[in-house]
Amino acid sequence: MKTALTGIKPTGNLHIGNYFGAIKPALELAEKYDARYFIADYHALNVVKNAAELRGTIRGIAAGWLAAGLDPEKVIFYRQSAVPETFELATMLAAFTPKGLMNRAHAYKAAVQQNAEKGADSDAGVNMGLFTYPVLMAADILLFDADIVPVGRDQVQHIEMAQDIAGAVNFNYKKDLLRIPEPGVLENAAVVPGLDGRKMSKSYGNTIPLFSSVTELRKTIMRIVTNSQEVSEPKDPDSSQIFALYKYFATEDEQAALAARYRAGGMGWGEAKEELFRVVNRELQPIRERYDALIAEPLKLERILKNGAEKARAVAARTIGRLRKAAGID
Ligand code: ADP
Ligand code: TRP
Repeated sequence: MKTALTGIKPTGNLHIGNYFGAIKPALELAEKYDARYFIADYHALNVVKNAAELRGTIRGIAAGWLAAGLDPEKVIFYRQSAVPETFELATMLAAFTPKGLMNRAHAYKAAVQQNAEKGADSDAGVNMGLFTYPVLMAADILLFDADIVPVGRDQVQHIEMAQDIAGAVNFNYKKDLLRIPEPGVLENAAVVPGLDGRKMSKSYGNTIPLFSSVTELRKTIMRIVTNSQEVSEPKDPDSSQIFALYKYFATEDEQAALAARYRAGGMGWGEAKEELFRVVNRELQPIRERYDALIAEPLKLERILKNGAEKARAVAARTIGRLRKAAGID
């Protein structure tokens, strides 16, 4: 069986972009693949420097995956930090990673560009964790011989970097030591739009959280940005933010019905938002209930992650052993 692997950084609360772009496709893949899914807590440390906050987001992501349907008996589910072989591999991979490759990473380049726009020093606010982020991510992936890495489109560059780094190692030792991974992007879910039409992202503050109360959820949906068209005017579903989100939650029939109401005129944005809220809540309610139950049982969560880490380390030890031998560090 082929291996699917993915990780989520616990830097904030899960939103529906994470759900459709990462969690849902990953859980579908877990039906057909040997799946290894983890919480990238050391990646989050680059951003979250408050211990209580990080503890909370780690727990939230763990409960989120399980509430969304991850079965820890089938999927190896663990925290990155509980698999120290990751950091050993990252050190080895760093020796095969050209600095120029890291210079080209989107997240780092964006930080440099922001500094340039502000007239600040190009290194301002850039820590080495951000700069070497793709090396750690390559270690996450290559350690587990992943064939496919389900992610949103924004992460594809990182996976291509993992391919390059693995290729450099294999070429040097003239041996297929590391498996070359492929990104698994679901095209229709690749970029879930946020409340303001940009990509939904924690960093833009335009998210619909996966686990908020019903009241909060409704309030959030009411904040979706619309134009100033009158109720009576016919509206174009294809250029509507509300409709773009509706597609993720509604059946084909529901979509056709709402599109017809848009085109007919006589429906205001408020009404369209109510309809969106109805289908979103329909999908999220059962997940939210499972989440609330899990969050109330931290010891159970810990036990699940500990079991996963044990299984993960058994796999990781084999990869590290193979590499150390090939490198002459055995
Ligand atoms: P954020 O952009 O909110 O910080 P992350 O970078 O933590 O989200 O993303 C976690 C996972 O969710 C990644 O696989 C990412 O590609 C996916 N993802 C995040 N936002 C979206 C989105 N709007 N549409 C599709 N996938 C997304
Ligand atoms: N960089 C990913 C993100 O920001 C998280 C991540 C870390 C990851 N390691 C990974 C994703 C390995 C897939 C595979 O979303």
